[in-house]
Amino acid sequence: MDKILVHGGHALSGSVKISGSKNSALPILAATLLTKEPCVIHHVPDLSDIHYMLQILSHLGAQVERASGTVTVQAEKIITEAPYEIVRKMRASVCVLGPLLGREKEATVSLPGGCVIGDRPIDLHLKGFEGLGAMHRIEAGNVKVFAGQLIGGVINLRGKQGPTVLGTDNVMMAAVLAEGTTVIDSAAAEPEVVDLANFLIKMGAKIEGAGTRRIVIEGVKELHGAEHEVIPDRIEAGTFLVAGAIAGKGDVTLRRVNPAHLTSVTDALTRAGFLLKADGQNLTIARTGTTKSLELTTEPYPGFPTDMQAQMCALLATTPGISVITETIFPQRYMHVSEMKRMGADISLNGPTAIIKGVEKLSGAPVMASDLRASAALVLAGLQGQGITEVNRVYHIDRGYELIDDKLNGLGAKIERMKA
Ligand code: EPU
Repeated sequence: MDKILVHGGHALSGSVKISGSKNSALPILAATLLTKEPCVIHHVPDLSDIHYMLQILSHLGAQVERASGTVTVQAEKIITEAPYEIVRKMRASVCVLGPLLGREKEATVSLPGGCVIGDRPIDLHLKGFEGLGAMHRIEAGNVKVFAGQLIGGVINLRGKQGPTVLGTDNVMMAAVLAEGTTVIDSAAAEPEVVDLANFLIKMGAKIEGAGTRRIVIEGVKELHGAEHEVIPDRIEAGTFLVAGAIAGKGDVTLRRVNPAHLTSVTDALTRAGFLLKADGQNLTIARTGTTKSLELTTEPYPGFPTDMQAQMCALLATTPGISVITETIFPQRYMHVSEMKRMGADISLNGPTAIIKGVEKLSGAPVMASDLRASAALVLAGLQGQGITEVNRVYHIDRGYELIDDKLNGLGAKIERMKA
């Protein structure tokens, strides 16, 4: 198992290229199951979560080829059951349910278990499939969804915590091949949902309203192959912006980003006293002088993303004043806090709210990565820590950040990867 050593105190500057979005690529790859024809997907990041998805597609019978960032999938003949051994490794495997149900009118996937960032049920996905006339059964740890025929309906996907991203993706992927019109109300409006909708439209689907709370889908008989470029990863981009905020000396510029997808993050960083400049597909962050504490609440897009909450904790840990973060999407997503406290951060938790008193310096310490974003946040905390921060269990980082150590080193950080 690898570990990462972050030598604190090295200033960052220069530019870094942002990879394709993990959370777009995963459902888009699943959507290739909707056609017998080949699909070509570009800008697919080289991540362990992507490898798991490609393994699932292969298991289901698809021919999968990968040449650097381009993946070609042809799912001429498929089976409809995804095995526990692969599915258990990644919760997003659940997004093969929609396309399998759409194409074959049945799908069996191992039910995703609990997750360190909180309880992650799929009741809304199942409610959506039910709205299309499908039934489901839970048996031996698997969920089986099946329908004689899928028929469009009006489906409200609002849950207690707001809309569901993969739930919206799943229902959209099943509904494109349903008979008649489907309306998804309270749909997730994340850019990744829009990217999936754009890919499905290229395949011949009829979808309107992706990116709003109401998506209307008119079912078609069949879909064809298509070629698509995955959008830039806004969470990787946000993570590098925070790296620039924490350790930047001079400018840190991100290349191949969509600044419009990052507005809530750049607004927060501007309020914290940083200078942000967008120029086409480039986004630059620089320090202006004094930094300020923040109040932040995570919300569905276009609000501040839960996937950036841990990284902001790392920044605010050494920002003068008292900052307050409230996590509304995954109220227990604070595994990074106890690790940051071991580095000297002054953070207290009150239910879903973190109260962060900025300290002058963090000090390097051995810490444990618990999930993807928490691990990235610990690396960021290490950039400003005095001494060495040893981040263990970095396989969590490799699930969602392509070459994070090389990219940060390219900006001037000193990070080593070692076998633990
Ligand atoms: N929820 C339900 N029932 C459901 C589905 C969701 O109650 O059937 C609840 C969840 O428990 C949560 C809220 O609804 O409280 C939102 O969850 P959502 O379904 O939107 O999450 P997801 O689709 O499973 C995706 C991303 C996550 C990201 C969330 C929120 C992918 C592969 N994953 O998960 O990304 O945090 O949306 O934006 O797209 C990450 O990349 O690190 C990551 C965890």
